[in-house]
Amino acid sequence: MSQRSCLSVILAAGEGTRMKSALPKVLHPIAGLPMVAHVVKAAEAAGASSEAIVIGHRAEEMREVMAKFSPKAETFVQEERLGTAHAVLAAREAISRGHDDILVMFGDTPLIDAEALTLARLKLAEGAAVVVIGFRPPVPNGYGRLVEKGGKLIAIREEKDCSEAEKKITFCNAGMMAIAGKHALKLLDAVGNQNAKGEYYLTDIVEIAGAQGLDVVATEASFENALGINNRAELAQAEGLWQQRRREQAMLSGVTLVAPETVYFSYDTEIGADTIVEPNVWFGPGVKIAGGAKIHAFSHIEGASIASNCDVGPFARLRPGADLRNKAKVGNFCEVKQAIIEEGAKVNHLTYIGDARVGAAANIGAGTITCNYDGYSKFFTDIGEGAFIGSNSSLVAPVSIGKGGYIASGSVITENVPDDALAFGRARQKTIPGKGKELRERFASAAAAKKKAAE
Ligand code: UD1
Ligand code: CA
Repeated sequence: MSQRSCLSVILAAGEGTRMKSALPKVLHPIAGLPMVAHVVKAAEAAGASSEAIVIGHRAEEMREVMAKFSPKAETFVQEERLGTAHAVLAAREAISRGHDDILVMFGDTPLIDAEALTLARLKLAEGAAVVVIGFRPPVPNGYGRLVEKGGKLIAIREEKDCSEAEKKITFCNAGMMAIAGKHALKLLDAVGNQNAKGEYYLTDIVEIAGAQGLDVVATEASFENALGINNRAELAQAEGLWQQRRREQAMLSGVTLVAPETVYFSYDTEIGADTIVEPNVWFGPGVKIAGGAKIHAFSHIEGASIASNCDVGPFARLRPGADLRNKAKVGNFCEVKQAIIEEGAKVNHLTYIGDARVGAAANIGAGTITCNYDGYSKFFTDIGEGAFIGSNSSLVAPVSIGKGGYIASGSVITENVPDDALAFGRARQKTIPGKGKELRERFASAAAAKKKAAE
């Protein structure tokens, strides 16, 4: 089958008014990726080499997003929304390039999995002209019904056109279809609009193909494959199902999730075996974690790279450009942004490291802040290998601390510190014997006098 070329036509011209959103429906994200891009990924995983996305209104916005997430996909505008067959024909130019297989998919049905599509393509390879992906929803209302006769699929009837007997059918149309490329245009062009909605139904090609003596087949997929998103409640349901799948995958590939239902992955999270993820961890886009890391509870991580055996959190925030090398440690209430934390370095408590390098085995004390921003520009802080930054220090960038440099607690460091130097950036301590007691007595008698005067 791998030699068969495959085009997927993804229908996404609907307005999605029930989302009540300024964003086109199919651009709403699931795991950080627009739902239509999930559909493209599934098509690609099933071997599609080209994608044609049929769009309607807000074409510019759609094109911009597709260029970012699915740069290979072509877009075609369906000017008037006259039905699913009409929508597929908006991509006529792509279809007429002569692909072996055409996969018709919906941009708002993001959980379709590659296996269901691959199975449909297999049926085409075996000689079917049309393959319908069916499913059995708990309640069939609203779906097209698969009408079978003698074990063969003979028609799909939209609910509005169903007889009472047909309404009782529980085997429904998930919407997606695979069509043999050589028959596709002939079948689609034969579709009319004589039905309850006056639309050109893609589903009519089943009867048309049957009448031409072509082979039509139904396969069965699970409910989530057919989950169409029309509102935000369904969006949340799809997110939940997607996360469930991803958690399962992570655990089966050797990642421990202590409380899987509380860990949220991004569409592109990479996470190595023997990583342990404690409860309530959120991964935004662009996270790569090598093996053996510990991600403690309540950490929020995006755009970060975490090498082997690192220790992160609890309550750590790693922002884009955080680059933790082997065995680095970023502890509680620390934020790291655009900074390399080299091998074995420790940033353990209450610290902000931004636009910086922390050298190997350096120790960053509690409350250290890299002051990287003057309100206009960002500046770099370089901390050498083995340096020790005393607690509650401010490093005012641009500044560098040499290898083995030692910064006294509470310092404000504005000038470079050479290798192995000790730097104080604070007033020297003054201690006056007996003065504490004297002050206390003075304050106590003042308070007593005030109280007496008030009586
Ligand atoms: C469709 C199927 C139905 C199936 C159901 C599964 C048809 C005729 N019916 O019905 O059998 O059970 O999906 O969810 O195919 N679109 C366009 N342009 C159009 C019309 C639709 O781009 O002119 C897009 C929509 O944006 C959507 C998809 O095609 O992504 C499906 O259209 P929709 O109107 O939702 O079809 P259903 O009535 O749900
Ligand atoms: Ca629908």
